[in-house]
Amino acid sequence: MDKLQVVGGKRLEGEIVISGAKNAALPILCAGLLTSGDLELSNVPRLHDVKTILKLLAQTGLKVTQDDERVTLNGSAITTLEAPYELVKTMRASILVLGPLLARFGEAKVSLPGGCAIGSRPVDQHIKGLQALGAEITIEGGYIYAKCKKLKGARIRTDMITVTGTENLLMAATLADGETILENAAREPEVTDLANLLVAMGAKIEGIGTDRLVIQGVAELHGARHAVISDRIEAATFLCAVAATGGDILLKNTRTDYFDVALDKLREIGLVMTMGPASIRAQMGGRPKPVSFRTTEYPGFPTDMQAQFMAVNTIASGGSRITETIFENRFMHVQEMNRLGAAIQTEGNTAHVKGVDKLVGAPVMATDLRASASLVIAAMAAQGTTIIDRIYHLDRGYDRMEVKLSAVGADIVRIK
Ligand code: EPU
Repeated sequence: MDKLQVVGGKRLEGEIVISGAKNAALPILCAGLLTSGDLELSNVPRLHDVKTILKLLAQTGLKVTQDDERVTLNGSAITTLEAPYELVKTMRASILVLGPLLARFGEAKVSLPGGCAIGSRPVDQHIKGLQALGAEITIEGGYIYAKCKKLKGARIRTDMITVTGTENLLMAATLADGETILENAAREPEVTDLANLLVAMGAKIEGIGTDRLVIQGVAELHGARHAVISDRIEAATFLCAVAATGGDILLKNTRTDYFDVALDKLREIGLVMTMGPASIRAQMGGRPKPVSFRTTEYPGFPTDMQAQFMAVNTIASGGSRITETIFENRFMHVQEMNRLGAAIQTEGNTAHVKGVDKLVGAPVMATDLRASASLVIAAMAAQGTTIIDRIYHLDRGYDRMEVKLSAVGADIVRIK
C-alpha cells in the first residue's frame, strides 16, 4: 500500500494548475448513458474515482475513449443495465447510473451502496424521487431493482438537500413525460455544471443554480461537448496548505465566482488573495488566525473542506470551534492530528481546537479522502517527518497531489 512521506516546515512558492472537479465529472460521465450520441468531455480529472466510474460505464456497453483529460463517450450500444456490488462498494457515486439507465431504458439494477467511513449515507431520497416519477422499485439481495414503462414528470421535494440525489433525479427527469419540479434541490456548482451539460444535450431545464429546478421532459437527448468545471475543493485545499505553511502560490485554471464561504474564512485566517480571471494568487506570512464555522450546504461552508481547515486551526494563534452538520462521523482525522501534537477535543458533532505552537511529525493513517488531504496539510506544517498510510483515499479524489505540492517546494514523496 502506498504511503506519503512528508518533511514539514517548507514554504510553498510557485504555480499549481487546478484539475477538473471530481464531483462534477462523476455525474457528467454518467450522463453519457442518456444519449446514443457522442459526449465529448474535457478537463476530466485523472483520479481513481474517475477510473472506477469509467469501468462501471464501460461494462454497461457505453463506449469510452480516453486521451488524458479528454474523454469521449458513446451510448449507442448499451447492453447491461446493471451496476454490480463489486464496483458500487468501492464508490458510492456509482448510484448516479440509476436515474439515467431507468429514464432511457426503463430498467436498472444497481447495488445498494453499503456503509461509509464518514456517515451512514442512505439513498432513500433517490429512490423516493424515482418512485414519484413512476418507477416501481424493489430492494432484494442488496440490489435496487427499478422498472418503468416511461417516467412521468412530478413535483418532488426531497426531505433534505442531497447533491447526488438532485443529480440523479435531474438526469431522470430530462427524459420523463411532462414537467418535473425538483424542490429543495442542491445548488452546488457541480450540480449546475451537470445541468449546463444536460441543456447542451437538448434538455429543457429552468432554475439552474437555484433550489427549484423545473424540467420539461424531452423525447431524447443528443451528443454535446463540455469542459468540466475546475475543482473548487482541490483549489481550496491548496489555499489551506499555503495558509498553514506560509508562502506565495498562484492557482491556475480555477474560477473565482463559485466559491463558498470558505474563501471568506481563508481571509479571516490571514491569507491574502488576489483574484485574476481564472487564477488566484495566495500569499501568507505569519501564524494563521483561528476560524470557527459550521458546515452546511452550498453556498455555506462545505463539509468537503472541514478537515483541511481544521488542520490550519491546529496551529492557529487561538482556539476555534468546528461543527459538522452534513455527515455524522466526519471527524476521524481528529485522532490522527492529535498524534501530531494537535489539541482537539470533540463533543458530539463539534470539535474544539486549541491552537498549538507547533506540530511534530509522526506516523498517521488516512481514513477518507478529505481527511487524507488534511493530514498532508498538517504534516507540511509539522516539524520533522510524517508518514501518512492508506493514501489510496487521497488518490480517489486528488490528481497527483504530491507531484503538484513538491513542484511548489513541499518535501513530499510517495513511498511504495
Ligand atoms: N442523505 C440521506 N438520504 C439520501 C441522500 C442523502 O439521508 O437519499 C443524507 C446523507 O446521509 C447526508 C446528507 O443527506 O447526511 C447530504 O448528503 P448528499 O446526498 O448531499 O451527499 P452525496 O451526494 O452522497 C456529495 C459529494 C460528497 C460531499 C456531499 C456533501 C459527490 C460524488 N459526492 O455526496 O463528496 O461531501 O455531496 O456536499 O458529489 C468528497 O468529495 O469527499 C465527498 C464525500
